[in-house]
Amino acid sequence: MEARAVISVRDLVVGFGDHLVLDHLCLDAYSGEILGVVGASGSGKSVLLRTIIGLLPKREGQIEVLGLNLDEADEAQRRALERRWGILFQQGALFSSLTVRQNVQFPMRENLDLSPRLLDEMALAKLEMVGLARRDADKFPAELSGGMTKRAALARALALDPEIVFLDEPTSGLDPIAAGEFDALIETLQKTLGLTVFMVTHDLESLYTVCDRVAALADGKVVAAGPIAAMLECEHPWVKTYFQGKRGALLAERRVSV
Ligand SMILES: Nc1ncnc2c1ncn2[C@@H]1O[C@H](COP(=O)(O)OP(=O)(O)OP(=O)(O)O)[C@@H](O)[C@H]1O
Ligand SMILES: [Mg+2]
Repeated sequence: MEARAVISVRDLVVGFGDHLVLDHLCLDAYSGEILGVVGASGSGKSVLLRTIIGLLPKREGQIEVLGLNLDEADEAQRRALERRWGILFQQGALFSSLTVRQNVQFPMRENLDLSPRLLDEMALAKLEMVGLARRDADKFPAELSGGMTKRAALARALALDPEIVFLDEPTSGLDPIAAGEFDALIETLQKTLGLTVFMVTHDLESLYTVCDRVAALADGKVVAAGPIAAMLECEHPWVKTYFQGKRGALLAERRVSV
């Protein structure tokens, strides 16, 4: 199977004042893969994600998503493209004044002209897809556990049947069991819906169990990209410490022995 880049980032430069966060960064995400993006805290993972989806301005470089060069896209093309991706942000995953059902329906109301009955049916179907119960639909975000919040936010990200899902630290704050369940959910959804998943994470377990490829960010660039095996061979000091540190080594060993 020939890999097709659905996200293609070339020579991306992003900074704030005299602080250069991304410095000629290049990265591809291929169709149907789960790409894990790792890097130290503050290395620019969220900035990269937010720049790709157009929430932050870039100084230089090209970004192409689903074949569209974002600089050349007009307003209508951009809006059409935005309907083809879903996002789970690192913070503020849900609107606190809306119920779970209303949160999931939010993008549907903005983009689709549907009857209230159909909106309800679709929202419930999305909630079921992410493993939430019907009775959770009318809860407010403050009434949810951390794991349920992530699931509800994922349901909202899937509201418009996107082709790409951007996830920023989807398992942070979850205990290892809930995190493992969430990873399994992402993997299942990726397989059944054929999604391309761009997942920022520092969760080694996620990287080992669900990611097809990993891109490591350091010094404003992608310093290594490839399967876990490539990360284990990488000589960059941060990548080396991260993947060959105690936890990384344990996971690698377990992986080899299963
Ligand atoms: N809107 C902004 N204005 C100014 N500086 C910003 C802004 N957003 C991010 N930064 C800076 O850019 C750098 C990268 O931030 P970013 O949030 O991308 O880190 P990260 O890799 O996602 O870290 P973490 O793993 O902690 O989430 C940080 O130094 C941060 O302070
Ligand atoms: Mg971040």
